[in-house]
Amino acid sequence: MSSKLIAPSILAADFANLQRDIEMVNNSDADWFHIDVMDGHFVPNISYGMPVIKAIKKHATKPLDVHLMIEKPERYIEEFKKVGADIITVHYESTIHLHRTLSQIENVGCKAGVVLNLTTPVSVLEDILPKCYMVLLMSINPGFGGQKFEHMTYDRIKKLRKMIDSKNLDTLIEIDGGVSDKNAKQLVDAGADVLVAGSYIFKSNNQHQTIKDLKTLINH
Ligand code: DX5
Ligand code: ZN
Repeated sequence: MSSKLIAPSILAADFANLQRDIEMVNNSDADWFHIDVMDGHFVPNISYGMPVIKAIKKHATKPLDVHLMIEKPERYIEEFKKVGADIITVHYESTIHLHRTLSQIENVGCKAGVVLNLTTPVSVLEDILPKCYMVLLMSINPGFGGQKFEHMTYDRIKKLRKMIDSKNLDTLIEIDGGVSDKNAKQLVDAGADVLVAGSYIFKSNNQHQTIKDLKTLINH
């Protein structure tokens, strides 16, 4: 069994001490940086964009997993690559020509993933799955950190796991929203490969240790 990954969500970091928080992640057992881009249209919140990602890239020693919560993400793929994205995920609900958008991501040299909102059926992925390096299932309504995990996620993971396995694919399943030590083990048991965690990590007293414990929990 390949190891299960942790992607701390920078949305919950201390932006006035961003370099410190990036170095904490660099020196931790975490695997990726999860970076949430919000445009105030696709989701009711605005986060940060290219200049901040560029600044993060300067210090990060692990891959940048960029989660685009923006309308028509196809307009900006090249720019996100330029500022340092390694993985780019776009919402199924945000782009009309999903296949073309994923090709754009591949063509700039990034790994391409699709994100589904809470109630978008996983069955919509049937035909696009072979093109997905990863599928991100939201376990909250996107837009804000610190929300309550939705339990319907477990069944959604199981369905998606079945689809991936039945096609003999190695597409990763990532889960985002309300992840903590209370649900992490159950999520990987259901079939998840990558867990995003924001508030759970950054609001803890010992972030480094919290990541270490979470990583141990999901790999045993
Ligand atoms: C929300 C973002 C998440 C968010 C998760 O739309 O996609 O990545 O940072 O935060 P927590 O872990 O606090 O729910
Ligand atoms: Zn996210």
